[in-house]
Amino acid sequence: MILIREMRSEDLAFVSKIEEQSFTHPWTKEQFQSELNTAHAWSYVALYNKMIVGYIVFWNVYDEIEIGVIAVLETHRNKQIGQRLLHTAIAQKPTSIFLEVSDKNDVAQTFYISQGFQEIHRRRSYYKDGTDAIIMKKSF
Ligand SMILES: CC(C)(COP(=O)(O)OP(=O)(O)OC[C@H]1O[C@@H](n2cnc3c(N)ncnc32)[C@H](O)[C@@H]1OP(=O)(O)O)[C@@H](O)C(=O)NCCC(=O)NCCS
Repeated sequence: MILIREMRSEDLAFVSKIEEQSFTHPWTKEQFQSELNTAHAWSYVALYNKMIVGYIVFWNVYDEIEIGVIAVLETHRNKQIGQRLLHTAIAQKPTSIFLEVSDKNDVAQTFYISQGFQEIHRRRSYYKDGTDAIIMKKSF
């Protein structure tokens, strides 16, 4: 069974491992810690058999949410854990949720589209390797 709870400092070793496996430019432990100390930042982890298998960090400013990062341990993907994590943001009843995703990240784009997000803007050659960044939004 998957349990979702708020992220704590002692989770960061496991969170960082997943982060490093998931991204070419991973957030550092210090970045996660700084978000844990930020008032309008929300961070949750997903646990399976007490093991951290995913996490999300988002910012809630006024009634808009921006997703900072979301990832699921590779061996535990496609089990609706990403969806459950995203719902921690939806549960705050924002008017809209925004996020940025690489044009190369087809899986994440498919995931977001399945959750009702739409592309609203494209930042051409935004990343160092020349890839576009796509801004997606879901309105409520
Ligand atoms: C994106 C990510 C968080 C999705 O998490 P997940 O737990 O695997 O996703 P879910 O199981 O909740 O998927 C929900 C829906 O997304 C879609 N989806 C997810 N993974 C998919 C895949 N590999 N191929 C096609 N569709 C996919 C499906 O529509 C799925 O619904 P279904 O299970 O009813 O078919 C995960 O793939 C991940 O950690 N990727 C690496 C990190 C990353 O890219 N993060 C986003 C950065 S912007």
